[in-house]
Amino acid sequence: MSISLIGSGIGESATLKLNETFSILKAKGEPVIHLGGGEPKSMAPFDAITTAAGLLNSGEIRYAPVDGTIEMKQAIIRYTADFYKKIVSPENVIASSGAKQAIMVAMQAILNPQDEVIFMAPYYVSYPDMIKLCGAIPVPVYAENGTFYPTIKDVSQNITSYTKLIIINSPNNPTGVVYSAEFIQQIVELCEEKGIYLLMDDIYHRLIFDNVKVANPYNYVKKDLENSKLIVINGVSKQYAMTGFRIGWAVANKVLIKVMSNIQGHQTSGPSIVLQKAAIGAMNGIQSYVESLRLTLENNRNVLIQYLKTIDGVKVVVPQGTFYSFVDFSAYNKNSTQLSKLLLDKVRVLTVPGVEFGGEGCLRISFCGSIKDITEGVERIKWVIDPNSSNELFIGQRKLVRDWK
Ligand SMILES: Cc1ncc(COP(=O)(O)O)c(C=O)c1O
Repeated sequence: MSISLIGSGIGESATLKLNETFSILKAKGEPVIHLGGGEPKSMAPFDAITTAAGLLNSGEIRYAPVDGTIEMKQAIIRYTADFYKKIVSPENVIASSGAKQAIMVAMQAILNPQDEVIFMAPYYVSYPDMIKLCGAIPVPVYAENGTFYPTIKDVSQNITSYTKLIIINSPNNPTGVVYSAEFIQQIVELCEEKGIYLLMDDIYHRLIFDNVKVANPYNYVKKDLENSKLIVINGVSKQYAMTGFRIGWAVANKVLIKVMSNIQGHQTSGPSIVLQKAAIGAMNGIQSYVESLRLTLENNRNVLIQYLKTIDGVKVVVPQGTFYSFVDFSAYNKNSTQLSKLLLDKVRVLTVPGVEFGGEGCLRISFCGSIKDITEGVERIKWVIDPNSSNELFIGQRKLVRDWK
């Protein structure tokens, strides 16, 4: 079959595939635990549901403006003022079908084939393929000191005359690390000096723990908004547990937003009017919802870390945000795909192989599920990898016997 070069170079999303595997096993009645998930389990905010229901009840569900309704834009403008202390106008914002689409159209608006895009490793699973979809070249930057915190020197060493864009995702998926304000300042300054676009993927910026602060990039930008190459991405998926609603947005200079809007107009048109209504409801509604989710996640994180520490040889950097931990299992198996498969086959625990995020030897373990899933999931993992485990494990009525080393 004849498939395009771009099409044949793109792989399936590892995390979405895992969700499919989970659904299939669950439907078969398997006692599967999903520790690979990327979405909070809370219900969507009541304000989101009632606002969307109001529109649905009217029966008038039409096309939305390509770059978002006025009401949606106003909610984004207020959000930007509240969380970034930055006043922007409607022409500086575009609402998209998820943060993913906002990132994708931003890339399509700025990248030419052969351009290079720098992002910090370990990285969000979709960045490399999104960049490849534009015919551009992904350039992951690893910290020379082996941590999850690349330095400005690590970044500078990867800049070439082809570097068009740098992406920062803080807090980071999959590690949960929050980059320091000093690092963000250095990145902003570097991008301004070299004329490189900077995309801040801030989708987790309100899901943070231990009183850490996520740096506000606008604090360091010297150029005025219309001459700045800063793009800030956000959305309702994670902070309001509204992953299925598919609303995200970008804030940037007017020229770029217009080009993004032109592209989006031919791809998907405006994001669904019903879903925008829901997002507006959440963003204008009671904000204690986000705080309560944040507290739940912080507690889940504490429990997960406590349990992981009971497994000898496992190394974990305590996540300061998101709902992921990136756990080093290399003492047991350096091949994360093999280990993840072993855990699924033997004890029906889903984890994401670190190699998908550019971090071989690690597994991404989520803590967005229930405490029961977290504790039982880690107990099962421990049983599989610890050679001193008892010979048998019961999962419900099912008796498992260790038949591997
Ligand atoms: C770092 C990062 N950016 C963007 C997205 C996409 O978010 P959305 O659901 O709004 O498309 C995700 C989702 O997992 C993510 O982890």
